[in-house]
Amino acid sequence: MSEPRPNGPAPATGRVPHGPFRPGDQVQLTDPKGRVNTITLQPGKQYHSHKGSVPHDDIIGSPEGTVYRTTGGTEYLAFRPLLTDFTLRMPRGAAVVYPKDAAQIIAMADIFPGARVIEAGAGSGALSCFLLRAVGEHGLLSSYERRPDFADIARANVEKFFGGPHPAWRLTVGSLEHALAETEADRVVLDMLAPWEPLDAVAKALIPGGIVCAYIATTTQMSRIVEDLRGHGGFAEPHASETMLRTWHVDGLAVRPDHRMIGHTGFLVTARRLADGVTPPARRRRPAKGAHPRSNGAAAQGAAGARPEGGAAAAGDAAPGDTAPQD
Ligand SMILES: C[S@@+](CC[C@H](N)C(=O)[O-])C[C@H]1O[C@@H](n2cnc3c(N)ncnc32)[C@H](O)[C@@H]1O
Repeated sequence: MSEPRPNGPAPATGRVPHGPFRPGDQVQLTDPKGRVNTITLQPGKQYHSHKGSVPHDDIIGSPEGTVYRTTGGTEYLAFRPLLTDFTLRMPRGAAVVYPKDAAQIIAMADIFPGARVIEAGAGSGALSCFLLRAVGEHGLLSSYERRPDFADIARANVEKFFGGPHPAWRLTVGSLEHALAETEADRVVLDMLAPWEPLDAVAKALIPGGIVCAYIATTTQMSRIVEDLRGHGGFAEPHASETMLRTWHVDGLAVRPDHRMIGHTGFLVTARRLADGVTPPARRRRPAKGAHPRSNGAAAQGAAGARPEGGAAAAGDAAPGDTAPQD
């Protein structure tokens, strides 16, 4: 069903604007060389570039995917920014989660419409936008950010993207481990330096079967969170992964991977909350020799799920027949 022609700004809800361009909408103008400028539509204003100008009034009321010609004759293609465009271009305090990882977080943490999700830290609000999209207006995203200045940036970004306060979003300034108030959470998503610090609070907040998902940048953090999840006792065996994305140049016979790629962003670790009072099942695969160097009889301890001292890499999960080198 087509929308009525716009005569005012879109209502501030969690819904992403669609239909003809309205005052207050963000519009991405792409020139013939692929350069992008993002403007906010205001009646009576002009978009100026060194290639000439376009009146905002020409854009307001027309559908997405329209081409405008500047006074200098250059053509610009207009779309509303996608969430991926928005998060990569929005103002930042902390480093943002890249779209490939946000997508994988939604999948691996099994975020669903109506879910009650806790997030820390909110940082610049990029992952908050993806999570809000996934939980929808009838879910709940409770985000924690310990730095008030970053919380302000996150709030501004989320409100800009959704055109106002999102009905499913709560933002608390404070450290997750001290401020966490919710119980009965379906999912907890952690993008913070030391995701092992709030594990007790996370375990209390999660329902049995719920998922904790940690996004971390380094192998040492990955090792620590995996071992601490194992040692906690309230979680099933963690799963660790990394997602690599290679974009391609496709032009006639020149079909090849792009020369440049983002080599590294981070790792994901997920684990499911056990029911209270349940002992995690013994791991059946024996840790590799040297995986837990400080413990004698490493295989026996590993099989019992005991947390090793120190943060040794969990190299012991090789399946029979795997040929990964062991030190
Ligand atoms: C890498 S940023 C998160 C970026 C965010 N996911 C995004 O996409 O914009 C990490 C954030 O975690 C916050 N942080 C670190 N430890 C925290 C804690 N214990 N509780 C709440 N926030 C924390 C930091 O202040 C920082 O803003």
